[in-house]
Amino acid sequence: MLHFLAVNLNHYSMQDDEVLCNYQKGEERGVTLLRQLKTFAPEEVTEEIAAQIIDELKHDRLFSGRLKDLDIDCFGMNHSLEAVYDLAQECVDRKDWIQSITIQTVIEELAMATFTDHLQELDPATQEVLREIIHDEARHLAFGVRELSKIAKGNEAKIKQIHLRVLEIFIATLKDKRFTKDQIGRMNKTVVKAYTMHKTRLSRIGIKIPTVKEALFTHH
Ligand SMILES: [Fe+2]
Ligand SMILES: [Fe+2]
Repeated sequence: MLHFLAVNLNHYSMQDDEVLCNYQKGEERGVTLLRQLKTFAPEEVTEEIAAQIIDELKHDRLFSGRLKDLDIDCFGMNHSLEAVYDLAQECVDRKDWIQSITIQTVIEELAMATFTDHLQELDPATQEVLREIIHDEARHLAFGVRELSKIAKGNEAKIKQIHLRVLEIFIATLKDKRFTKDQIGRMNKTVVKAYTMHKTRLSRIGIKIPTVKEALFTHH
Protein backbone atom coordinates (compact mmCIF):
# COMPACT_ATOMS: atom_id res chain seq x y z
CA MET A 1 0.00 0.00 0.00
CA LEU A 2 2.72 2.45 0.99
CA HIS A 3 4.75 1.55 -2.03
CA PHE A 4 1.70 2.07 -4.23
CA LEU A 5 1.12 5.50 -2.72
CA ALA A 6 4.76 6.49 -3.19
CA VAL A 7 4.68 5.57 -6.85
CA ASN A 8 1.44 7.41 -7.32
CA LEU A 9 2.64 10.58 -5.67
CA ASN A 10 5.76 10.79 -7.80
CA HIS A 11 4.08 10.36 -11.11
CA TYR A 12 0.87 9.14 -12.61
CA SER A 13 1.07 5.50 -13.58
CA MET A 14 0.17 4.23 -17.05
CA GLN A 15 -2.97 2.86 -15.50
CA ASP A 16 -4.11 6.29 -14.29
CA ASP A 17 -3.25 7.87 -17.65
CA GLU A 18 -5.40 5.28 -19.34
CA VAL A 19 -8.29 5.82 -16.92
CA LEU A 20 -8.30 9.59 -17.41
CA CYS A 21 -8.06 9.24 -21.21
CA ASN A 22 -11.04 6.87 -21.25
CA TYR A 23 -13.05 9.28 -19.10
CA GLN A 24 -12.39 12.18 -21.44
CA LYS A 25 -13.11 10.20 -24.61
CA GLY A 26 -16.28 8.81 -23.06
CA GLU A 27 -17.59 12.30 -22.32
CA GLU A 28 -16.77 13.37 -25.86
CA ARG A 29 -18.70 10.46 -27.37
CA GLY A 30 -21.51 11.04 -24.88
CA VAL A 31 -21.99 14.57 -26.19
CA THR A 32 -22.20 13.33 -29.81
CA LEU A 33 -24.74 10.65 -28.88
CA LEU A 34 -26.92 12.93 -26.77
CA ARG A 35 -27.07 15.56 -29.51
CA GLN A 36 -28.53 12.93 -31.82
CA LEU A 37 -30.78 11.47 -29.12
CA LYS A 38 -32.34 14.87 -28.51
CA THR A 39 -33.66 14.98 -32.10
CA PHE A 40 -36.00 11.99 -31.61
CA ALA A 41 -36.57 11.90 -27.83
CA PRO A 42 -40.11 12.45 -26.47
CA GLU A 43 -40.81 16.16 -26.39
CA GLU A 44 -41.27 16.32 -22.61
CA VAL A 45 -37.65 15.28 -22.00
CA THR A 46 -35.78 17.33 -24.61
CA GLU A 47 -35.03 20.07 -22.09
CA GLU A 48 -33.52 17.56 -19.68
CA ILE A 49 -31.40 16.11 -22.48
CA ALA A 50 -30.26 19.62 -23.44
CA ALA A 51 -29.17 20.18 -19.82
CA GLN A 52 -27.38 16.83 -19.86
CA ILE A 53 -25.47 17.82 -23.01
CA ILE A 54 -24.25 20.93 -21.16
CA ASP A 55 -23.16 18.72 -18.24
CA GLU A 56 -21.24 16.29 -20.49
CA LEU A 57 -19.56 19.18 -22.30
CA LYS A 58 -18.46 20.48 -18.91
CA HIS A 59 -17.14 17.01 -17.98
CA ASP A 60 -15.21 16.83 -21.25
CA ARG A 61 -13.71 20.24 -20.49
CA LEU A 62 -12.83 19.29 -16.91
CA PHE A 63 -11.15 16.03 -17.92
CA SER A 64 -9.33 17.67 -20.83
CA GLY A 65 -8.05 20.28 -18.38
CA ARG A 66 -6.69 17.61 -16.03
CA LEU A 67 -5.03 15.76 -18.94
CA LYS A 68 -3.36 18.97 -20.03
CA ASP A 69 -2.21 19.89 -16.51
CA LEU A 70 -0.81 16.40 -15.97
CA ASP A 71 0.80 16.43 -19.42
CA ILE A 72 -0.86 13.19 -20.52
CA ASP A 73 -1.22 12.33 -24.22
CA CYS A 74 -4.13 10.07 -25.10
CA PHE A 75 -4.16 7.40 -27.79
CA GLY A 76 -7.72 6.36 -28.36
CA MET A 77 -10.21 4.66 -26.13
CA ASN A 78 -10.27 1.25 -24.51
CA HIS A 79 -11.66 -1.23 -27.13
CA SER A 80 -14.27 -2.62 -24.83
CA LEU A 81 -15.66 0.77 -23.89
CA GLU A 82 -15.53 1.75 -27.54
CA ALA A 83 -17.72 -1.24 -28.41
CA VAL A 84 -20.30 -0.07 -25.85
CA TYR A 85 -20.35 3.41 -27.39
CA ASP A 86 -20.58 1.87 -30.88
CA LEU A 87 -23.65 -0.04 -29.74
CA ALA A 88 -25.14 3.22 -28.43
CA GLN A 89 -24.35 4.85 -31.77
CA GLU A 90 -26.16 2.02 -33.55
CA CYS A 91 -29.25 2.63 -31.39
CA VAL A 92 -29.35 6.39 -31.99
CA ASP A 93 -28.73 5.87 -35.72
CA ARG A 94 -31.88 3.75 -35.71
CA LYS A 95 -33.63 6.56 -33.84
CA ASP A 96 -34.98 3.98 -31.45
CA TRP A 97 -35.83 5.74 -28.19
CA ILE A 98 -36.31 2.56 -26.14
CA GLN A 99 -32.99 1.05 -27.22
CA SER A 100 -31.18 4.38 -26.87
CA ILE A 101 -32.40 5.19 -23.37
CA THR A 102 -31.60 1.59 -22.34
CA ILE A 103 -27.96 1.82 -23.45
CA GLN A 104 -27.65 5.41 -22.23
CA THR A 105 -28.65 4.26 -18.75
CA VAL A 106 -26.11 1.40 -18.86
CA ILE A 107 -23.39 3.91 -19.81
CA GLU A 108 -24.30 6.20 -16.89
CA GLU A 109 -24.20 3.22 -14.51
CA LEU A 110 -20.77 2.24 -15.84
CA ALA A 111 -19.53 5.80 -15.48
CA MET A 112 -20.75 5.99 -11.87
CA ALA A 113 -19.14 2.65 -10.94
CA THR A 114 -15.84 3.46 -12.68
CA PHE A 115 -15.57 6.97 -11.27
CA THR A 116 -16.34 5.80 -7.74
CA ASP A 117 -13.91 2.84 -8.00
CA HIS A 118 -10.98 5.00 -9.11
CA LEU A 119 -11.65 8.10 -7.03
CA GLN A 120 -9.19 7.25 -4.23
CA GLU A 121 -6.35 6.41 -6.66
CA LEU A 122 -6.24 9.86 -8.24
CA ASP A 123 -4.54 13.09 -7.19
CA PRO A 124 -6.54 15.58 -5.06
CA ALA A 125 -7.27 18.00 -7.94
CA THR A 126 -8.64 15.20 -10.14
CA GLN A 127 -10.61 13.84 -7.20
CA GLU A 128 -12.28 17.20 -6.80
CA VAL A 129 -13.19 17.27 -10.49
CA LEU A 130 -14.48 13.71 -10.30
CA ARG A 131 -16.69 14.41 -7.27
CA GLU A 132 -18.43 17.17 -9.15
CA ILE A 133 -18.89 14.91 -12.17
CA ILE A 134 -20.21 11.96 -10.11
CA HIS A 135 -22.90 14.26 -8.76
CA ASP A 136 -24.10 15.01 -12.33
CA GLU A 137 -23.88 11.38 -13.47
CA ALA A 138 -26.09 10.30 -10.56
CA ARG A 139 -28.73 12.73 -11.84
CA HIS A 140 -28.36 11.42 -15.41
CA LEU A 141 -28.70 7.86 -14.18
CA ALA A 142 -31.86 8.73 -12.24
CA PHE A 143 -33.27 10.35 -15.38
CA GLY A 144 -32.62 7.20 -17.43
CA VAL A 145 -34.18 4.93 -14.82
CA ARG A 146 -37.25 7.17 -14.63
CA GLU A 147 -37.65 7.11 -18.43
CA LEU A 148 -37.18 3.33 -18.50
CA SER A 149 -39.89 2.90 -15.88
CA LYS A 150 -42.31 4.76 -18.20
CA ILE A 151 -41.66 2.51 -21.19
CA ALA A 152 -40.85 -0.81 -19.52
CA LYS A 153 -44.25 -2.40 -20.00
CA GLY A 154 -44.50 -4.07 -23.38
CA ASN A 155 -40.85 -3.42 -24.26
CA GLU A 156 -39.26 -6.13 -22.11
CA ALA A 157 -37.77 -8.01 -25.09
CA LYS A 158 -36.13 -4.90 -26.55
CA ILE A 159 -34.64 -3.86 -23.20
CA LYS A 160 -33.39 -7.40 -22.62
CA GLN A 161 -31.83 -7.53 -26.09
CA ILE A 162 -29.70 -4.43 -25.46
CA HIS A 163 -28.46 -5.81 -22.14
CA LEU A 164 -27.55 -9.08 -23.84
CA ARG A 165 -25.51 -7.14 -26.39
CA VAL A 166 -23.72 -5.29 -23.56
CA LEU A 167 -22.96 -8.59 -21.82
CA GLU A 168 -21.63 -10.05 -25.07
CA ILE A 169 -19.19 -7.13 -25.31
CA PHE A 170 -17.98 -7.79 -21.76
CA ILE A 171 -17.66 -11.52 -22.33
CA ALA A 172 -15.60 -10.81 -25.47
CA THR A 173 -13.38 -8.48 -23.41
CA LEU A 174 -12.38 -11.34 -21.12
CA LYS A 175 -10.87 -13.14 -24.13
CA ASP A 176 -9.48 -10.06 -25.87
CA LYS A 177 -5.72 -10.51 -26.36
CA ARG A 178 -5.21 -6.76 -26.77
CA PHE A 179 -5.65 -6.37 -22.99
CA THR A 180 -3.21 -7.49 -20.33
CA LYS A 181 -4.38 -9.87 -17.60
CA ASP A 182 -4.19 -6.99 -15.17
CA GLN A 183 -6.37 -4.75 -17.34
CA ILE A 184 -8.95 -7.50 -17.76
CA GLY A 185 -8.97 -8.11 -14.01
CA ARG A 186 -9.61 -4.46 -13.22
CA MET A 187 -12.27 -4.04 -15.90
CA ASN A 188 -14.01 -7.21 -14.84
CA LYS A 189 -14.22 -6.03 -11.24
CA THR A 190 -15.81 -2.69 -12.18
CA VAL A 191 -18.13 -4.16 -14.83
CA VAL A 192 -19.44 -6.89 -12.53
CA LYS A 193 -20.08 -4.28 -9.85
CA ALA A 194 -21.83 -1.92 -12.30
CA TYR A 195 -23.94 -4.66 -13.83
CA THR A 196 -25.01 -6.04 -10.45
CA MET A 197 -26.00 -2.55 -9.28
CA HIS A 198 -27.88 -1.97 -12.52
CA LYS A 199 -29.72 -5.27 -12.23
CA THR A 200 -30.87 -4.37 -8.70
CA ARG A 201 -31.78 -0.82 -9.71
CA LEU A 202 -33.90 -1.95 -12.65
CA SER A 203 -35.53 -4.79 -10.72
CA ARG A 204 -36.94 -2.13 -8.37
CA ILE A 205 -38.92 -0.68 -11.28
CA GLY A 206 -40.00 -4.11 -12.48
CA ILE A 207 -37.41 -4.60 -15.23
CA LYS A 208 -35.63 -7.93 -15.26
CA ILE A 209 -32.33 -7.88 -17.14
CA PRO A 210 -30.38 -11.01 -18.12
CA THR A 211 -27.64 -12.55 -16.02
CA VAL A 212 -24.13 -13.20 -17.37
CA LYS A 213 -25.00 -16.93 -17.47
CA GLU A 214 -28.01 -16.21 -19.64
CA ALA A 215 -25.84 -14.16 -21.99
CA LEU A 216 -23.34 -17.01 -22.29
CA PHE A 217 -26.16 -19.41 -23.06
CA THR A 218 -27.76 -17.09 -25.66
CA HIS A 219 -24.42 -16.45 -27.25
CA HIS A 220 -23.79 -20.10 -28.12
FE1 LIG B 1 -20.35 12.74 -18.00
FE1 LIG C 1 -23.72 11.50 -17.86
